[in-house]
Amino acid sequence: MATSVVQRGREAALAFPAIWLRDNCPCHDCRDPRNGQKLFGITDLPADLTVLDVAESPEHVTVTFGPDGHRGVFTRSWLSAQHTPDSGDGRTEAAKQLWRATDFEDGPPAADWTAYRDDPAMRAETLRRVLELGFAVLHGTPTAEQTVLTIASTFGYPRETNYGTLFDVRVENNPNNLAFTGMRIAPHTDNPYRDPVPTLQLLHCLNNAADGGESGLLDGFQAASLLRAEHPGAFEILTSTPVPFAWSDATTSLRADRPLIDTDPDGNIREVRFNNRSMQALRLSTGATEAFYTAYRRFAEIIARPELLLTFRLDTGDCVIFDNTRLLHARTAFAETGSRHLQGCYADLDALTSTLRVLEDRG
Ligand code: OGA
Ligand code: ZN
Ligand code: ZN
Repeated sequence: MATSVVQRGREAALAFPAIWLRDNCPCHDCRDPRNGQKLFGITDLPADLTVLDVAESPEHVTVTFGPDGHRGVFTRSWLSAQHTPDSGDGRTEAAKQLWRATDFEDGPPAADWTAYRDDPAMRAETLRRVLELGFAVLHGTPTAEQTVLTIASTFGYPRETNYGTLFDVRVENNPNNLAFTGMRIAPHTDNPYRDPVPTLQLLHCLNNAADGGESGLLDGFQAASLLRAEHPGAFEILTSTPVPFAWSDATTSLRADRPLIDTDPDGNIREVRFNNRSMQALRLSTGATEAFYTAYRRFAEIIARPELLLTFRLDTGDCVIFDNTRLLHARTAFAETGSRHLQGCYADLDALTSTLRVLEDRG
């Protein structure tokens, strides 16, 4: 028994290179005990580090390093946990449940506002859905103006932009944007001309008495993964071609150049941008331009498949929270004679993810 514990400890310690062990040394000289932050940089460590000795107890593994004789005590449980593959930050397709409209025959994932506000378990469940499915709807929210900011503050912080801390979506007399008419808006992501792009969007319905004006959501990771399966060459082009996006008015001039599909170094889909309204002229060779447009059309054809688009009505008092790096949103046309008023704001996934983690750890 004793031998096997010792043996396991030695294996656990020695499975890691000396530099890794030293960089993760938990001693009080290496980390500030008040906050756990490291007190050194990588070049402060000897370049010729070795493990001189490993001493074990049932709970701990003590490592003595050469050439300086520094000693660090690791818990066995921490060391063995480091052998489990890390699930990462949860931003890529690897952590998501990809969907199509038919997966929501009983309607979109939804929660009642008061239950969400008052019950931490319900709040955690709703936020988890935003991370896994890309969205959730809250029903029965107050219909006072600016409520969207209160909703954002339940999990994070509204992101102020040149549009303000919130924006109104309703019919205007001199619309400077399609959004301010009764016209259909095709599936798109918002603000691809920003870097960083707003990672979350909220749309809160103060009033929807219009004929039409249904909301649409589509899983852009699903569309990108279908493109990869059906047209791998097109997927390769869209992940590797920076596309210029821009937006400007009298006081603002924004531009960001990013691919339509962003992947991590392992090739996992991480972000989707899709908005023809703000896409600018590409400056590529003739051949590359033609290949890009063929790939772009393939992606758009997949996005246009009716089975992918979830359509639902955002009624008075509903608020949808969605991942703007993943979902495309849309709306059908509506009669401008009926009134429809949404207030929207942007927010970010990092704070929402943090709020969920804290709820899960303390729940
Ligand atoms: C927008 C938009 C959706 C709607 O303004 O960008 O997508 O339901 N509006 O009006
Ligand atoms: Zn140390
Ligand atoms: Zn939009």
